[in-house]
Amino acid sequence: MNIIVVPLSINDSQDELQDLFEQLTDNPSFNVKLLVTATNCYCAVIKQEGRIVSFGALSIYFVPDKGYVGTIQSLVTHKDYRKCGFGTAILIYLESKAKRLGLVRIELTSNPKRKNARKLYGTLRYIKSDTNVFYKDL
Ligand SMILES: CC(C)(COP(=O)(O)OP(=O)(O)OC[C@H]1O[C@@H](n2cnc3c(N)ncnc32)[C@H](O)[C@@H]1OP(=O)(O)O)[C@@H](O)C(=O)NCCC(=O)NCCS
Repeated sequence: MNIIVVPLSINDSQDELQDLFEQLTDNPSFNVKLLVTATNCYCAVIKQEGRIVSFGALSIYFVPDKGYVGTIQSLVTHKDYRKCGFGTAILIYLESKAKRLGLVRIELTSNPKRKNARKLYGTLRYIKSDTNVFYKDL
């Protein structure tokens, strides 16, 4: 299978991405134009037969005692295309982007229920830290 990772484009379909994001989360809220133009956010996709089947993003922020750090966000492969190497290809692409941008670290969070994702992160040598994440919706 031909695996080509490309940046999300302004012409990509909101509906296709909606289908994919619904496999990641309930009630996804997003806008393709905003994703493409957002500052410090790089979105990567893989298409098969013209449709988006895998997505991941690298978002960048500054940590005072570390420097610029990237987080992997919203990694998802369409259920019909899993275990074909697409998630891996998206992660490798985003890691390479992070290196080119001079980031010092990539972080990600993953719910313990996401067994496939956590296995993949281990395979790609992501290290599980003890940090507990707190958050507040605004
Ligand atoms: C997690 C997720 C993105 C992985 O996507 P994917 O495209 O299936 O990922 P890959 O195909 O690159 O890798 C998955 C596994 O299949 C294996 N694989 C890859 N190509 C393969 C092939 N041709 N034959 C058999 N296995 C293969 C990989 O080695 C990997 O194995 P591992 O888990 O033991 O490391 C996908 O399962 C998903 O969308 N899950 C729901 C959303 C989710 O949980 N997202 C993560 C949020 S934190």
